[in-house]
Amino acid sequence: MNFIKVDSYDKLSEMAAEIIADVIKGKENPVLGLATGSSPLGTYARLVEKYEKGELDFSSCTSVNLDEYVGLDGENDQSYRYFMNKNLFSKINIDMNKTFVPNGCASDLSSEGEAYDKMIEDLGGIDIQLLGIGLDGHIGFNEPEDFFTKETHLVKLDESTIEANSRFFASKDDVPKQAITMGMYSIMQAKKVLLIANGKAKKEIIEKAFFGKITPWVPASILQLHSDVTVIYSEN
Ligand code: GLP
Repeated sequence: MNFIKVDSYDKLSEMAAEIIADVIKGKENPVLGLATGSSPLGTYARLVEKYEKGELDFSSCTSVNLDEYVGLDGENDQSYRYFMNKNLFSKINIDMNKTFVPNGCASDLSSEGEAYDKMIEDLGGIDIQLLGIGLDGHIGFNEPEDFFTKETHLVKLDESTIEANSRFFASKDDVPKQAITMGMYSIMQAKKVLLIANGKAKKEIIEKAFFGKITPWVPASILQLHSDVTVIYSEN
C-alpha cells in the first residue's frame, strides 16, 4: 500500500487528479470507477481544469459509479447521478451514454445489481477505482457487517451514515434508508484503487482501516489485500 499524507485538501485533490489523469492518458478505453461525497469534489474540479486546459480527453472513457440511494432518480438533486452530472460529467467531454450509476429506482434491485456487475465485467473491469471512506469505515455503501458482500447489492444504511449524510438533505428524515452499492468484488478487481480522505474526523478510521486488522466491521480494511492501492490523507 502506498500511504501518502499531505498537508492540505488542495494537495490531496491535485495528487488524486494526477493519478487519475495518468490512467486516462495511459489507456485506450479507460474504465473509471467513480465516487460521490464531499471528498472527491476537489479532485473532480482539478480534472475539469485539466480538461479545460486541453490536457485531458474523456471521450474514450467509460465511468461506473459505486452507489446510489434507493428511491432517488437522476432528476433528484440529492441523487448520486445528479451529483455526478453536476460536478463532473456536464463539465467534460465524456459520452453521457458511457456513464453508469446504479439505478436506485429499479423495480427489481437484485437484477439491477446482477446487471451492473455483468456490465463491469463486460467492460473488462475497472482501471482505477476512486473511493472515499465513511466515518464507520464504509466504502461505496458497504456498511460494517459480519461479512463482506461480493456483488452489487441492496443495503440498509447505518444510523451513523444517515446522520453523516443528513448534512446534504433538508432534514435527517429525508435521507433514504437504503442504497444500492457495488460490492467488494468489483472494487477489489479494480486494477488500481485510490482512496482519499481528509479532516481530523477521519483520522481514527483511517488508522483502523489501513493499519489495523482486516475485518468486515471496518469494510475499507479489505483494501489492505489489494496489490495496488494508494491512500491520500490530509488531516486539514
Ligand atoms: C457516502 C458515500 C461514500 C463516501 C462517503 C464519505 O456515504 N456513499 O462513497 O465515501 O459518503 O463521504 P465524504 O467524502 O463526504 O466524507
